Amino acid sequence: MSKITAAITAVGMYVPEYVLSNQILETMVDTNDEWITTRTGIKERRILKEPGKGTSFLAINAAKDLIAKSKIDPKEIELVIVATATPDMQAASTSAFVASNIGATEAFSFDLESACSSFLFGMSTAARYIESGKYKKVLLIGADMNSSMIDYTDRATCIIFGDGAGAVLFEPNKDGFGVLDEYLRSDGVGREFLQVAAGGSILPASEETVKNKQHYVYQDGRTVFKFAVSNMADVSAKIMERNNLAKEDVAWLAPHQANKRIIEATANRMDLEMNKVMMNIQKYGNTTSATLPLLLNEYEKQLRKGDNIIFAAFGGGFTWGAIYLKWAYNAN
Ligand code: UT7
Repeated sequence: MSKITAAITAVGMYVPEYVLSNQILETMVDTNDEWITTRTGIKERRILKEPGKGTSFLAINAAKDLIAKSKIDPKEIELVIVATATPDMQAASTSAFVASNIGATEAFSFDLESACSSFLFGMSTAARYIESGKYKKVLLIGADMNSSMIDYTDRATCIIFGDGAGAVLFEPNKDGFGVLDEYLRSDGVGREFLQVAAGGSILPASEETVKNKQHYVYQDGRTVFKFAVSNMADVSAKIMERNNLAKEDVAWLAPHQANKRIIEATANRMDLEMNKVMMNIQKYGNTTSATLPLLLNEYEKQLRKGDNIIFAAFGGGFTWGAIYLKWAYNAN
């Protein structure tokens, strides 16, 4: 019997309507379009403005888009994984709420949190469930409402992040399509350089933590940038090497969208032309767990069955890695 691999068979996405442009940010903090564009590649990002709505709202809409497009019966979904750094609330699983709302009433579900690598690590997790032979339909959603933890008076972070969600369906494949290899890493040395200090178990919420703005994202951008450039490029080059992939064999790089310069450095190390690099950072900024599935949605029609895609991400913790996947279908 041929080996079972985990193929992506459908995608869906959702971004909120409100567009926060560089021009609007210029009126909020001491920054300008030229600085943001040249340093990050970002022109605008989407922000969820509706009170009372959180990450689950984004995730539910992305999943519903996938279900409508693929015409699957949500009752066939056996597992829902919500990859996120901004769950709806502590203790209650966001994924359970999402699964119920999309009609995945036969599924079990869990959240997976690993900062900007959440979706990448979620791909690895979903693949293992499929490869076990026990599960036939695993829905992986990457969703983040980053605006819930951003200080819009801090120009070092508010220009970078946006809100959004993307969903992918994994199904078993016996013809060699799907996840073929992965190289995933983490190093706790990075915790001090990118974090939300309060609200967790080390520093629970108090009057003091609110006053000190410790519920917002803090980032030492320069240090994170340095680690991101070298680590994302390293794992991407390594996964090509150990799968004997020459640059001609790689159809696409799907990189986490944190900074255009990090993406270019990774492509450069892989010796890939930029027309093989998926990019939408200009429209959405860094949507944390949503960047990779948003890319797949945007490029879906250009992807061909058999295309070799390298996914790569780097994020808080630090966490990072690369996944090699063979695309399984033509969308049109
Ligand atoms: O997704 C998770 C992983 N995260 C990342 O991968 C992010 C990695 N880091 C980055 O992308 C970049 O470090 C940033 C985009 C965050 C910052 O770019 P940078 O080129 O590293 O800038 P910098 O922090 O070194 O700051 C350069 C200058 C500073 O001024 P001085 O000290 O040179 O006078 C900053 O104060 O730019 C200033 N600056 C700004 N100026 C205008 C910082 N933020 C802004 C701003 N507008 N928004």
